[in-house]
Amino acid sequence: MPVYVVVGAQWGDEGKGKVCDFLAGAMDLVVRYQGGANAGHTVVFDDRKIVLHQIPSGILSPRARSVIGNGCVVDPVILASEIRELAAAGVHVGPENLIVSQHAHLVTPLHRFLDEKQNGAIGTTGRGIGPCYTDKAQRSGIRLESLMDGSWRGRMREHGSRHEDFYRVVYGVGYIDVEESIRALEPAVALLQPLIGDTAQVVCDAVSTGGSILFEGAQGTFLDLDHGTYPYVTSSTTTVGGAISGGGVYVHFDRRIAVMKAYATRVGEGPFPTELTDETGRRLREVGREYGATTGRARRCGWLDLSMGRRACMINGFDYVVLTKLDCLSGLPVLRAAVGRASDGTPDYVDMEGWDSSIAGVTSFHELPVEARRYVAFIEEYLCVPVGMISTGPSRSDIIIRKEP
Ligand code: GDP
Ligand code: IMO
Ligand code: MG
Repeated sequence: MPVYVVVGAQWGDEGKGKVCDFLAGAMDLVVRYQGGANAGHTVVFDDRKIVLHQIPSGILSPRARSVIGNGCVVDPVILASEIRELAAAGVHVGPENLIVSQHAHLVTPLHRFLDEKQNGAIGTTGRGIGPCYTDKAQRSGIRLESLMDGSWRGRMREHGSRHEDFYRVVYGVGYIDVEESIRALEPAVALLQPLIGDTAQVVCDAVSTGGSILFEGAQGTFLDLDHGTYPYVTSSTTTVGGAISGGGVYVHFDRRIAVMKAYATRVGEGPFPTELTDETGRRLREVGREYGATTGRARRCGWLDLSMGRRACMINGFDYVVLTKLDCLSGLPVLRAAVGRASDGTPDYVDMEGWDSSIAGVTSFHELPVEARRYVAFIEEYLCVPVGMISTGPSRSDIIIRKEP
């Protein structure tokens, strides 16, 4: 049974939610291995739209069990609201279909507060991700295992006093009331407790019984803490390597799947060589509805950057590309893709002819206009990786399958 890992090839929001939901129907296990509620993975089915932040997109599959792995950071309040949203859509979440690692770290209101205070230069999502991973690396974080025996309350108090001095000196503000934070977390913690388990063992059991497993990456290659556009990155290993450490056990991936948007977007600050600040950029934002699924911020838009794509393939060992949002390029007379850099660092572009007709919802490669097929062919030739699927709309069914993964 196959083991796949799905990773964003750009700066996040490539359509990983849609792709993972599509693949999850045939999976036994879907595993998130890094990040937290900074992710916003949109799944559209039966005219419904659900945005998942921490729960894997596999939760909508009746077959798959979902895992939030040890590499993740978990905000119980946001998790509780995701569970409520899923219940409203008729999807029950309980220990039988969601297991959260005892080694994942708790995101506290204090982490969120610190993130908001510090987020200016990076433009983070304000979800407390950086401060939580900082505490983890500092060996002073709160692991979810402490929710099992109630020791989390004492740890919250230590966590509060540890940050207090820094806090007062740096920000000169009054301290968040820890007792109030504990009270605020209690109901969500009670909901989370029965879901906590040994996810490394769960993944190991699935591997040893030949189960099909999908590792669902969040963010994207160039937001990776090591490989991304540092310091304008997130605080976790978003790339394929992160799936092993953050997912629990060593696995062999039968497919390393890139999700690549047919153009580029980025939310927050940081370099974006192919960014379009003109009418074409605005048009891509409107047609592609490029507004953050987590924060609602307008996403910066630009041309596809294949030189970065090639690097993403190198880092992740991608052997399969899902190209998303090709439908959003319809109507642009000329399409550009960056294939290198000039000596001053500006992108070198290849121009290609665009197409006029709508391709929204097209499910067969041969129905695409010849210009769209050429665009796809150029991408796979440049990357030396096959474009196995092309997404032509937000719904599960808006997909062209050229080659099964
Ligand atoms: P993720 O974070 O990688 O899961 O991506 P997001 O959910 O943040 O953003 C992708 C957005 O594009 C969502 O609103 C999806 O519903 C939508 N989407 C995904 N694939 C396609 C596609 O092929 N065409 C169009 N038009 N929209 C898509
Ligand atoms: P998905 O999984 C797009 C960006 C933030 C900011 C930087 C650091 O939906 O693709 P953080 O809150 O992680 O400390 O912010 O990373 N960022 C994302 N951008 N999609 C995401 O997730 C992102 N998660 C974080 O905008 O620039
Ligand atoms: Mg997103």
